[in-house]
Amino acid sequence: MDLGMRGRVALVTGGGGGIGREVATILAREGVDVAVADLRPEPTRGTVEAVEAAGAGAMAITIDMTDDASVRAAVSTAEEWHGRVDILVNAAGIYHVGTYAEVTAQAWDLMQGVNLRGTFLACQAVLPGMVTRRRGAIVNLASISGRTRSTLAAPSYVASKAGIIGLTMSLAMQVASAGVRVNAVAPGPTETEMILGLPEELQAKVLATIPIGRLATTAEVASTIVFLASDLSGSTTGETVNINGGAFMV
Ligand SMILES: NC(=O)c1ccc[n+]([C@@H]2O[C@H](COP(=O)([O-])OP(=O)(O)OC[C@H]3O[C@@H](n4cnc5c(N)ncnc54)[C@H](O)[C@@H]3O)[C@@H](O)[C@H]2O)c1
Repeated sequence: MDLGMRGRVALVTGGGGGIGREVATILAREGVDVAVADLRPEPTRGTVEAVEAAGAGAMAITIDMTDDASVRAAVSTAEEWHGRVDILVNAAGIYHVGTYAEVTAQAWDLMQGVNLRGTFLACQAVLPGMVTRRRGAIVNLASISGRTRSTLAAPSYVASKAGIIGLTMSLAMQVASAGVRVNAVAPGPTETEMILGLPEELQAKVLATIPIGRLATTAEVASTIVFLASDLSGSTTGETVNINGGAFMV
C-alpha cells in the first residue's frame, strides 16, 4: 500500500526491539529512510539490515534514553543524515512486573527515565526542526496499562504509560498550529520479548484478559503506528489509539 511517505526520514527509538523493528521495516517498504536508535547495538544492526532489505536507507545509532546528552546527540545525528527528521517513533521502553511494595526508588527512576523522561527528551529534541519546517509526526508508545487496570504491570510501568498519554496531548496542543502532530498507541499484550520473555504462567494470565484469545502481532501494532505517522491521519493529533484485541473498550 502506498501511504504517500516516499522520501521521508524517520527516527525510531527502541528500533532494535520487536515493535520498533516492525515499524522500521514497514516504513522502509513505504520508501522511508530510517535511523534506527537503540541501547543494544546487535539488534539495532538486525533492524538496519531489515530496512535495507526492504529497499530503504538505514543508519544505526546507539542511544540511551536515560541520558539527556545521548538523546540529543542521537537526534542531531539523525538530522544531519538527510538534513531533517520527518517522523519520530518512540518505541524504546522497559517493563516491570510487580506490586507497589516491590518497586524500589531506583527501579522507579529507571522506569520513568527510559519510558517517560526519555520519550519527552526525544520529542523535545526533534520538535524544533519539525516546527521550523512546519512538517512532522511523532508517535509515542503508551500501553493499555496506562488506561485501565493492569493484571501484572508494576505501578511504575503503569504510571510511565499514563504519563505518556498526558505528554502526548500536551505536546500535540503546543505544536498543532505549526503543522506538527503528536499521537500515541496503547497496545495490549503484543508478541515481543517483553511478553514472550515472561514465565509461562504469567503469559497465561495475560492471555486470559484478551477477548480475541491471542496476543497482538507486531505487524498489527506497527501498521497503526505507521498510519499515525502518515498524512492519512492528518486530522488526528493528541490521540492515543487502542490496539488490544477487545481487552479494553471505550
Ligand atoms: N510488547 C507489549 O506487549 C507492549 C504492550 C504495550 C506497550 N508496549 C510498549 O511498546 C514499546 C516497545 O516494546 P517492545 O514490545 O517492542 O519491547 P522490546 O523489549 O522488544 O523493545 C524495547 C526496546 O527498547 C530498548 N531500550 C530499553 N532501554 C533503553 C534505553 N535506556 N535506551 C534506549 N533503548 C532502550 C531495548 O533495547 C529494546 O530494543 C515499549 O515502550 C513498550 O512499553 C509493549
